[in-house]
Amino acid sequence: MISMDRRALFAYLGGTAAVAAMSQEARADALETFLASSVATGATAAAATRAPTVAELEAQIPTRSYRRGVGNGLVNKDGGNVTLLSPLPARPTLADFIRLRLQSNAEHCLQSARLARMKNMDEDIVFACLVHDLSLSLMRAEHGFWSAQMFEPYVSEKVTFAIRHHATLRFFPDKDAGYEYPELYRTMFGSDYVPPAHQQAEYEWVRKHRWYMAPRLVTVNDLYSFEPGVKVSVDDFEDVIGRHFRQPAEGLGLDGSPVAHIWRTAANPDSPL
Ligand SMILES: [Fe+2]
Ligand SMILES: [Fe+2]
Repeated sequence: MISMDRRALFAYLGGTAAVAAMSQEARADALETFLASSVATGATAAAATRAPTVAELEAQIPTRSYRRGVGNGLVNKDGGNVTLLSPLPARPTLADFIRLRLQSNAEHCLQSARLARMKNMDEDIVFACLVHDLSLSLMRAEHGFWSAQMFEPYVSEKVTFAIRHHATLRFFPDKDAGYEYPELYRTMFGSDYVPPAHQQAEYEWVRKHRWYMAPRLVTVNDLYSFEPGVKVSVDDFEDVIGRHFRQPAEGLGLDGSPVAHIWRTAANPDSPL
């Protein structure tokens, strides 16, 4: 774990009040951003205000005790320990996983779904927003594909499409749809970052697809700014989940589906094998 000056971190994020108002996900991303900045490595404040280059980010890799792609639920990137997990019910539902296992990004997903609902978007888009980043608890790298895989047996083809491709569309602005390249990505990926060829090709293909607007609308609601004080409960989406998610009677992870092991991994990430 990189050594870190907590006071410098709080100052970088705008003070303790600003940090308190941030969601867990926003904090995790801000921490990544901070670690990627030069403040954390003791460079001047002026150097810290510019986004690092791809080469500078690469040079930081051997300064960490973890890979950046590891899930937020599997490692405490703050340097502290992980927590003991509460038991799941015998037949866990999606809501149970959101409440008890995939929390690291649940708040962000709930806020995204709330935004989509406030904008009167179709309910399948609201549902896609609700689950689009839940795999980030297990794996950050390729998270659009991981999330889509986790949900594919239980949701419509269009919802799977929306989840799978939202992550790539994040790199490609669409002004008409109201989506701009996120500033945060300059610090996370590097100021001179160019998405790899396979991702460019995925974008070109999705752009022409009849369902293009499904993942695009997920990105439109995929904001990192949160209304302070607004708490969204998964209870508010029980009806949406009921209509768009085929909950297995045996419980998630226990239903013998091709992705049950992913849910079991989420259920018990402390298993040594
Ligand atoms: Fe995402
Ligand atoms: Fe997101």
